[in-house]
Amino acid sequence: MALDLIAIRRDLHQYPEVAHNEYRTAEVIGNILQTLGLNPRRVAKTGVVCEIPGNGNEPMLALRADIDALPIQEQSGLEYASKNPGVMHACGHDVHATILLGVAEQLAQRQAGLRRGVRLIFQPAEEGTTGARELIAAGVLDNVSSIVGLHNYPLLPVGKAAFRAGPLMAASSRFQITITGKGGHAASPHLSADPIVAGAAVVSGLQQLVSRVAHPLEPLVVTVGAFQAGSAFNIIPETAEMLGTVRCFSMELRKSVGQWMTETANDIAAGYRCKAQVEYTEMMPSVNNDPALTQQARQAAASVLGEENLSEAEQVLAAEDFSLYQQIVPGCFFWLGSGGTYHWHHPAYAIDEKVLPTGVRTLSAIALKLLS
Ligand code: NI
Repeated sequence: MALDLIAIRRDLHQYPEVAHNEYRTAEVIGNILQTLGLNPRRVAKTGVVCEIPGNGNEPMLALRADIDALPIQEQSGLEYASKNPGVMHACGHDVHATILLGVAEQLAQRQAGLRRGVRLIFQPAEEGTTGARELIAAGVLDNVSSIVGLHNYPLLPVGKAAFRAGPLMAASSRFQITITGKGGHAASPHLSADPIVAGAAVVSGLQQLVSRVAHPLEPLVVTVGAFQAGSAFNIIPETAEMLGTVRCFSMELRKSVGQWMTETANDIAAGYRCKAQVEYTEMMPSVNNDPALTQQARQAAASVLGEENLSEAEQVLAAEDFSLYQQIVPGCFFWLGSGGTYHWHHPAYAIDEKVLPTGVRTLSAIALKLLS
């Protein structure tokens, strides 16, 4: 292999850039693609797209890697730890970008044998949640009929991978609830309407949506992540405000939760002589894998890793904007074992670098199966 995967990944790791700021990263990726004799182009400011044409006129296969980092201070202690204070590749998107560069090299060498063309998508701002949307708007799925992507999975050792047909990652929404009462002296609750007590009851009430309203066999998470009210020990404030998120696999359930949440917050607040205002915004759809494509990808991965090293992927309630591509074309997203001690987004997150060649061989085999 001509590309030095470890050097490429360590370089990206040392200079991580958060969503929408991946200028250096995009430059590095574009330069490497050029050394492979390819013609990369920039899209949506910090995205990089590049095609390897096939021999026919059939629509292309797309392969997608995300490239952005997180606003986290790295505490891995690695010699090639981040040199950008407060920014870290704590989700391994440096690994994803490097693997896709290795795959570009493999496919460029086998170009003569490709029946279909392939489009390589280096996507910015996955963590910013708008990257896929911007790239789709820029036309990255034009003349594409299927898409494959992966995420490294530290809890699986290198050499293992996990696939799952159907829902893999959650649909998400965010909500903001404002409880309005009547402010007053802390010693005169009878002359006030306390939005803190009402808000506390609303937080508890929202958890009952999971245990008492939703179907018990449907995974559902309702998390209030922020609750703000009041300014002093002896004042009943006028308002309380909370922010949170809902995660589930069913898009119908997600819609229903918005309605239940509004009713519950209103009814509970009324019981405390307060009013509730609920804003419920649907964000990402669920990552939902096409069964036929997933079976083909899994078969190709088995030819590299061995069937005994493949498993049914664990579902997670995190969200991923790979789902937006899957709204348009059939897609497969899978877990690639990266042998770490800490999971995604931890300040000491680190992976086993052997995942780089393993990832290149696995994703190349999947691509070649789908392209030939
Ligand atoms: Ni990630």
